Amino acid sequence: MEYKLKIIVGSTRPGRKAPIVADWFLELAKQYSNFEVELLDLKEIDLPLMDEPNHPMMQKYTKDHTKKWSKTIDEAVAFVFITPEYNYGRPATIKNAMDYLFNEWQEKPVGFVSYGGVSGGTRAVQELKLPTTTLGMMPLPQAVNIPFFAQFINDDNVFEANEPLKKSADVMLNKLQAWTKALKEMREA
Ligand SMILES: Cc1cc2nc3c(=O)[nH]c(=O)nc-3n(C[C@H](O)[C@H](O)[C@H](O)COP(=O)(O)O)c2cc1C
Repeated sequence: MEYKLKIIVGSTRPGRKAPIVADWFLELAKQYSNFEVELLDLKEIDLPLMDEPNHPMMQKYTKDHTKKWSKTIDEAVAFVFITPEYNYGRPATIKNAMDYLFNEWQEKPVGFVSYGGVSGGTRAVQELKLPTTTLGMMPLPQAVNIPFFAQFINDDNVFEANEPLKKSADVMLNKLQAWTKALKEMREA
């Protein structure tokens, strides 16, 4: 059984560090044989600020970018958000991407990889938990929070995790598998 896990990269700014963190986590996630992993880079996906006239619950999408985004999220059964922390909160990009859809997110688990300074991006994660639960998702308490994340980036711009970070990623991915299975069964029942 393979579960489609979509890893969503939240930072879109020039010079962003997100791809360095994302590449590390992507390789780890690929080692979980139950997951078929895909990276969704919001910079490439390039959604405008939410521009649909109808509530997403109705799924009466008028824009091609929304129809494409809907299909991409609908086929996933689990998510990981890779998020920076901006001004003690989440980046607007992830919230905007969430606001486009409703049913496509429902009853699916989401794990978080966050990074920042002393906070390790934890305030961004806390803020993301509000819209995820409103959308019926299951935000995992087991997260990968990376404080002073620049210390883990080597001269070749490769992320070199320490043991506690690897362990937290392992714990989170195991829980994500368990929730994915449970919620998939629940949706299908
Ligand atoms: C607009 C802005 C706000 C920021 N606010 C925070 C913050 O509140 N907490 C924090 O730990 N780091 C903060 N930082 C520093 C980021 O952790 C750092 O720039 C990181 O590289 C951002 O991720 P990105 O490069 O993938 O965009 C901020 C950076 C920017 C650009």
